[in-house]
Amino acid sequence: MRGKSVLLIIGGGIAAYKSLDLIRRLAERGVKTRAILTRAGAEFVTPLSVSALTADKVYCELFSLTDESEMGHIELSRAADLVVVAPATADLMGKLAAGLANDLASTALLATDKRILMAPAMNVRMWQSPSVCRSTETLARDGVLFVGPNDGEMACGEFGPGRMAEPLEIVAAIEQALKIRGGALDGFKALVTAGPTQEPLDPVRFLANRSSGKQGYAIADALAGAGADTVLVSGPVEIAPPPHVKLVKVTTAREMLAACEAELPADIAVMSAAVADWRPDIAANNKIKKNGDHQVPTIRLMENPDILALLAAHKSRPRLVVGFAAETDDVLPHAAAKRTRKGADWIVANDVSGNVMGGDRNQVHLITASSQDSWPEMSKADVARRLVQHITQHFQGTAS
Ligand code: CTP
Repeated sequence: MRGKSVLLIIGGGIAAYKSLDLIRRLAERGVKTRAILTRAGAEFVTPLSVSALTADKVYCELFSLTDESEMGHIELSRAADLVVVAPATADLMGKLAAGLANDLASTALLATDKRILMAPAMNVRMWQSPSVCRSTETLARDGVLFVGPNDGEMACGEFGPGRMAEPLEIVAAIEQALKIRGGALDGFKALVTAGPTQEPLDPVRFLANRSSGKQGYAIADALAGAGADTVLVSGPVEIAPPPHVKLVKVTTAREMLAACEAELPADIAVMSAAVADWRPDIAANNKIKKNGDHQVPTIRLMENPDILALLAAHKSRPRLVVGFAAETDDVLPHAAAKRTRKGADWIVANDVSGNVMGGDRNQVHLITASSQDSWPEMSKADVARRLVQHITQHFQGTAS
C-alpha cells in the first residue's frame, strides 16, 4: 500500500471519530490521505483534528475560490488511487445512487474515475429501510465496494447491523481494493455475458435453458481481479455477483444485446452466455389459457440476434472477442467452424453432454486461429483464471 493515496470523505455520524484513527492507520502503512469533511461530519470531528492527522488542508466547501485555485473539485476527486467514504451515511449513499451532487462530497463522488469504497454507519432501521436497501443495491451494481456495517450495540441504544466497520477492517478493505489496481489488465475494459436468457411466451411462461452462469461469473471475477474494468451482463441466475464488477441484469437476448452495445467501446469481450437461439414470435400480454377443447397451442419461433457475431462485426469491435461453443458432439470441428462463422478471435469449446451446466467443473478446449489447446478438467474458477492468463499474455504480446 506504501505510496498510495486515498481521498477520504467523512460523513456526518457518531462513527466519524473512528475515521481519525483510520487516517492514522493508513499513515502507518505509508498511505497518504486527503480528506473531505461534510458539513454534518464537522459536527462530529473538527476540521483541525482531520487536518492535523492528514498533515494537509481539509476540503469542506464546493464553492471555495481558494480551494478551487489550489485544486479544483474534479481534480480532487481523481488525484487519489481510491475514494473511501467513512462513515457513509444514508444521505451520501442516496445521493450517489440517485446521481445528485449539491456539495463537495457528493460532487467528488460523482466526478471521480476511481473506485469507491463505502463504510456505512447508521441506525439499524435506517440501514434496513427499503430506500437504503435500494441505494445499496444500486451502488453495488455500479461497482461501489462496501465494508461493513457490523452488528452490534449502537450509539442510539438499538442492536443490529449499522455499526461502522472498525478502522483495521477498513484498512484491509482498502488494501484489497487497491490491489485490484496495478493488475496486468489495469486500464482495460472487459465485457462478459453470462447465464441463460429467458424468452417470454406470456406473462408467466418463458423459454430458457439450464445455464447456471457460474463459468461467466468466474471469468468476470478473474478479469476484475486482473485489474480490468469489468461489466457483467447477466441473464437470470441464482448466484451472487463477484465483487468489483458492474452487474447489468437482463432477461431476454434482445436486452442482452442492447446492454452489451451500450457498454462499447471495450477492449475484451467474453461471451459465455447461453443465449436462447429462438424466441416465441409473439409474447402474449395475457396468460395463454386452455379453452376446454383440448387444442394445443402452436408456438412459432423466430431467431434471436446473435450477440457474439454482432459484436465481432461491430464498428466498435472489442480488440479481443472470445466466444463459447457448447457442443454435444464433434466438439472441436463444430467449435472451430463456429469461431470462423461468428468472427470470434477465440472460442472456448466445451462438451455439454454431461452435467457441465450447473456443475462446478469444466473441461474446455481453447481454439484460436492457429491452435487448438485441450485443457484438463478443472474447476470453473480455474478455467476462468487460465483463460484470463491467456488474455493477459495476448495483450502483452507473448502469445496469440
Ligand atoms: N451466442 C450469442 N447470441 C446468440 C447465440 C449464441 O451471443 N443468439 C454466443 C454464445 O454466448 C457463445 C457462442 O455464441 O459465445 C456460441 O453459442 P452456442 O450456443 O454454442 O452456439 P449457437 O449459436 O447456438 O450455435 P449452434 O446452435 O449451431 O450450436
